[in-house]
Amino acid sequence: MVAKPSQFSVLFVCLGNICRSPTAHGVFQHLLDQRGLSKQVEVGSAGTAAYHIGSAPDHRSVRAAADRGYDLRALRAQKALAEDFHRYDYILAMDNENLANLRAIAPEQPRAQLKLLLDFSSQHQYREVPDPYYGGARGFGLVLDLIEDASSGLLDEIQQRLTD
Ligand code: 4NP
Repeated sequence: MVAKPSQFSVLFVCLGNICRSPTAHGVFQHLLDQRGLSKQVEVGSAGTAAYHIGSAPDHRSVRAAADRGYDLRALRAQKALAEDFHRYDYILAMDNENLANLRAIAPEQPRAQLKLLLDFSSQHQYREVPDPYYGGARGFGLVLDLIEDASSGLLDEIQQRLTD
């Protein structure tokens, strides 16, 4: 019997790769571990800007995530690249500006589907994950709420594709 090609890969993208996309990375990895899918689905995160390359996630994101049981400390910021469109199956932008910046570097025949992460949300009042960088602590909790909800919807879709 031939083994099923069961590999999917997901890249979360924000502006700096120190707040929203590392949060999504940590939440989604946790969900993969919980559902026993970490061998079948690979996860990454990146930023459309180069300001923070090599940096650990923002301490406010690390703390807000840790309060819900996610460990972001090992992640390091990197920049989203055109070649990511050949490497990943899903590239998920946190907001419309990230989406536009990604479209601008996308190659002509990408492997990846490019979408907003909140396209997978079950609560529709938000279409984008708001940038928490200049805001208060409330922003980091909201980022987690939105990302937890959409990550679950995203993984439901991938899980369905794994069994098709
Ligand atoms: P992120 O947040 O895109 O969610 O990582 C930001 C991080 C850094 C900056 C802006 C947003 N910045 O301007 O340095």
